[in-house]
Amino acid sequence: MKTIIYKISLFFSALVLVACGGVPEEKSETAAEENAFSVEEVLEMVAKENDVTRTLYTKAIVGKGKAQGMKFDEDWRKDDVEAGPLPALFLRGVATSIIKSPVPLGLYLGSDFPVNAANKFEGKQADLFQEIKKTQEPQFFYDEDQKLHTAMFADLASAGACVSCHNKHPQTTKSDWKLGDVMGATTWQYPKDSLTYKETVAVLNAYAKGTVDIYMEYLDEIEAFKESEKPEIGNKWPAEGNYLPTAEVFLDSVKKLSSYETMKHLVAVK
Ligand code: HEC
Repeated sequence: MKTIIYKISLFFSALVLVACGGVPEEKSETAAEENAFSVEEVLEMVAKENDVTRTLYTKAIVGKGKAQGMKFDEDWRKDDVEAGPLPALFLRGVATSIIKSPVPLGLYLGSDFPVNAANKFEGKQADLFQEIKKTQEPQFFYDEDQKLHTAMFADLASAGACVSCHNKHPQTTKSDWKLGDVMGATTWQYPKDSLTYKETVAVLNAYAKGTVDIYMEYLDEIEAFKESEKPEIGNKWPAEGNYLPTAEVFLDSVKKLSSYETMKHLVAVK
């Protein structure tokens, strides 16, 4: 128990250290340099953050937004389409933002029966995905070709909208998805087998920044709407009417929902 508390307190001093721009305090500086977590542990933490973000976006923004008449479309970036990103494209936006960051973290959403052929798992990932479909357990392996530690997590049909949209999609390769099915998996990759506190915080921050970036792109898209009614952007959510939260309010909710889970994971470490 002592080590756990020690680890957590170090984690938070590293957080403060990073947040304050790394003003050195001798002891935490050293601690922040030591490898603290295995790559599996870190990828599990960021995957958990992603679960919360993805569910919040799918249910509270897309699901409730649609009920208010807001539109979400795979071609949302096109000038003549006045809509927001679908959940999978929100995730792609996060992945694109992470690629642009200095953090060497990879994120990909795939399936064995994808809507978009580019999302079809191949090779080792295709084999492990069959395992995930059976057990819903995460899978870890070292990708020798890419020299990357790889973790895969089940992506479940958690809302009716996942099932109905995929089943009816003109490009679908499977039209009998059911609620609760493993529809795909998120694949995460990182080059090192263990991370320091600083690197761990950098991974979590790169993910959080990714969600803010794509969410801001969505808000910019709304700003440019010519035909459609623009929702009011502030601290209210679509559940209350024609409103959307600001990026800050959105991220705040993610943090509130996920910090407990991330904390639980930190406590579960050894
Ligand atoms: C309104 C339609 C719609 C909804 C709702 C939706 N999706 Fe998708 N989904 C798509 C489209 C379109 C793509 C392909 C996007 C692209 O071009 O990569 C996609 C991609 C995916 C992929 C990657 C593999 C593939 O099919 O290309 C997975 C996995 C996935 N969605 C799961 C889900 C889950 C789980 C939910 C609910 C939480 C969900 N989707 C909600 C339309 C939808």
